[in-house]
Amino acid sequence: MEKYYCTTAIDYVNGAPHIGHAYEKILTDVINRHYSQRADLAFMLTGTDEHGIKIQKTSAANGMTPKELCDMNAQKFKDAWKALDIDYTRFIRTTDENHEKVVQKIFKKLLEKGDIYKHSYTGLYCSGCECFLSEKDLTEDGLCPDHLKKPEVVEEENYFFKLTKYKDAIIKHIKTNPDFIVPSFRANEVLNQLEDIQDISVSRAKSNVTWGIDVLDDPEQVIYVWIDALSNYITAIGYDVDSQSEEFKKLWPVDVHVIGKDILKFHSIYWIAILMALDLPLPKHIFAHGWITIDEAKMSKSLGNVVSPTSVLETFNLEYPDAFRYYMVTAAPCGKDGNYSDDDFKEKVNAHLANSMGNLLNRTLSMLVKYFDGEVKQEFKQNSPLFDKALATIKAVEHNFDYFEIQEAAQKIMELVDVTNKYVTDNAPWTLAKEEKMQECGIVLTTVLEIMCVISSLIYPYCPNIAKAMAEQLSYDINTKLDNITCNNIKVGKLIEKENIKPVFLRVDSEFADKSKK
Ligand code: MSP
Repeated sequence: MEKYYCTTAIDYVNGAPHIGHAYEKILTDVINRHYSQRADLAFMLTGTDEHGIKIQKTSAANGMTPKELCDMNAQKFKDAWKALDIDYTRFIRTTDENHEKVVQKIFKKLLEKGDIYKHSYTGLYCSGCECFLSEKDLTEDGLCPDHLKKPEVVEEENYFFKLTKYKDAIIKHIKTNPDFIVPSFRANEVLNQLEDIQDISVSRAKSNVTWGIDVLDDPEQVIYVWIDALSNYITAIGYDVDSQSEEFKKLWPVDVHVIGKDILKFHSIYWIAILMALDLPLPKHIFAHGWITIDEAKMSKSLGNVVSPTSVLETFNLEYPDAFRYYMVTAAPCGKDGNYSDDDFKEKVNAHLANSMGNLLNRTLSMLVKYFDGEVKQEFKQNSPLFDKALATIKAVEHNFDYFEIQEAAQKIMELVDVTNKYVTDNAPWTLAKEEKMQECGIVLTTVLEIMCVISSLIYPYCPNIAKAMAEQLSYDINTKLDNITCNNIKVGKLIEKENIKPVFLRVDSEFADKSKK
């Protein structure tokens, strides 16, 4: 695989990041890290969406200029992603000079092409969604169903994009590419929305919205925030209307846009039409993930249950974000909603990462030291049916990732951990040692250590720090590409000294965690 290009939605900066935003960034980071184990180049783009009426209103309410609010909050997103080890390749802000310039040119090109035209319009605008809603989108009380607020009646002369021109081509594309929208059950929703699609307004009058990118040659209008925002996926990698960078040529089309289910329409209809209008190839996949609730309730400022991702790290005194990352991306099957709760978090990461996976490595290495002074002998290196299971797990995990089944892939990894634990229990190396069957004992321990190398590679995208700590104790190269993994990684000779055996993950709220908390 030559390259893998994945993107996240870019977050509005009218507030600080919460764990819903974090869920998506971790998911994408896990995907990106997995493909870095398969592709020559893996590229992840994330960033912030900084224009629009919402930011304009929030900054005014806080006595700040919009740019001051954006600078302050964009930094909070960057800090949070750093704390979560989100290893993005590039971070775009829609207030970046280059982005603004290219968006203006894109708009101009579509205008010249005749795909954008001017039109007087009266509509219902929801600032929460940053979009016009039709009467039939509203609740019985006339409210936006997502934000439970009454949309504003807006009467403006705007520029419109001829979405209807692309309707049939989009329908055809969705129908002929069943894995274009993931999960596939969402494709029907999009096809239903396409049924009565209208041309969309793609600018706002400056009399109503000032915080946006100016339409070239028309200073009274700013470009609609979604046209601005969606274009980030190409401007960030060097697309320009009349020239394209080498990077763009290498990376585009994108392999996957990872987004929340609430913004699927913008990506699978509006964005696709724009790309068609620009004569650009279409994304390979759009993966719409579900929503994260807190203790089974929707997160909202009014309920006071908005959880910041860094507060979870602080509450549990986590030195590394691995446990939180693991928990979040395994919280829901592909595309379904998931839930965060402190108790469930503790229970799951202790069971999977500490008891099953971490302990397996720790006690195997400890036995190697106890019985063999940490040395692996040539005669310990024997083939095992467990190796076939490990190599089959790599293939199964790759298959899951190709379908964005990130939780399901983690289950496969944990199954391999469980099977290996069972192998240890069944073969009882401590009994073999007692009976002085030393070669048999050494074979069992070495077999487990071989499997642990594979597990460290597979768990790496989810838990990069734990994986590195495992690999270090196994003298295994964590950068091994998945295709090159064998079950012949453990070298003959001294593997480890007693003092270098360290638990790779301490139980959350364990004695150790409590001690460092004090
Ligand atoms: N700015 C737009 C996206 C533009 S993409 C060209 C936007 N921003 S947002 O800040 O409201 O949301 C950013 C992402 O976070 C979206 O994909 C959204 O679905 C996701 N989430 C926001 N709250 C969420 C949860 N509670 N759970 C999971 N993801 C959610 O939309």
